[in-house]
Amino acid sequence: MNIVSGPSSTKLGNSIAEILGIETVRVAHKKFPDGESYIRFEGEVAGEEVAIVQTTGPPQDTNLIQLFILADAAKDLGAKRVIAVVPYLAYARQDKRFLPGEAISIQTIGKLLKTSGIDELLTVDVHQEKILEKFEIPARNVSAIGLLANYFKSRGLEGAFALAPDKGASEFAIEASKILGGGYGWLHKERDRYTGEVKTEEKTLDVSGRDAIIFDDIISTGGTTANAVKILKKQGARRIFAACVHPLMIGNAKERILQSGAEEIVGTDSVPSDITVVSLAPLLAEALAEMIKG
Ligand code: R5P
Repeated sequence: MNIVSGPSSTKLGNSIAEILGIETVRVAHKKFPDGESYIRFEGEVAGEEVAIVQTTGPPQDTNLIQLFILADAAKDLGAKRVIAVVPYLAYARQDKRFLPGEAISIQTIGKLLKTSGIDELLTVDVHQEKILEKFEIPARNVSAIGLLANYFKSRGLEGAFALAPDKGASEFAIEASKILGGGYGWLHKERDRYTGEVKTEEKTLDVSGRDAIIFDDIISTGGTTANAVKILKKQGARRIFAACVHPLMIGNAKERILQSGAEEIVGTDSVPSDITVVSLAPLLAEALAEMIKG
């Protein structure tokens, strides 16, 4: 097995390879003046099993096309099995027709993964795990919430309240509270399908005078997390932290959350960002080792 560290996840791919003690195949890449991506394998993949590590955070479309080109080229160069390790799977939130006529974009991505020569997919906290069942290739999802909760525990936040900013994230709060031991809760959120604006309903939480951590899969514009921070603050939480697996951190997301009253925001290297402090490498190395063994 060789690891191909794609352009969007070079550092993470190299860390996974180091943990597993396996070789990496270097990839040269550049953008042509018109924006098209150029890819060249600098090592051999013929006859090999390869794991391509390539996240698909912003710029999503470029990172996706590079993933498809990498997989197709690997097969074309003789690789016998291609596993795509895609920590953040772009378009996963468009998993149904919310409004009439909408494209179910993740279905298209699923088809393209297979068509480009990918045999198996490994991803992390995909927005809705059930979408993977519709993919025509085996797809495995692992969760990084344990890594995030343990990070806070190691920082002395054992006993903090774990909050999910919406019902969809409730499993994250439940999972985190098993590690932090401070109980959990979740809020109800609604998003305007036309404007994207988020409204969060306030509900009484057991947080007065206590530390609280918000756990979500994605922070994009920061609206969802900022609303949850404001509710925690209003209800007298002591210190408020925010954690996410996929820190997309679009625009002023960070400032928005901090200005709402959060002390710190913590993310993983699923998407490299200035709030990335926890690495997915050990989690992905373990999952990949199991997939290689079959
Ligand atoms: C959606 O339900 C996700 O779990 C996140 O809550 C959402 O993507 C966060 O988006 P934003 O940061 O733009 O509110």
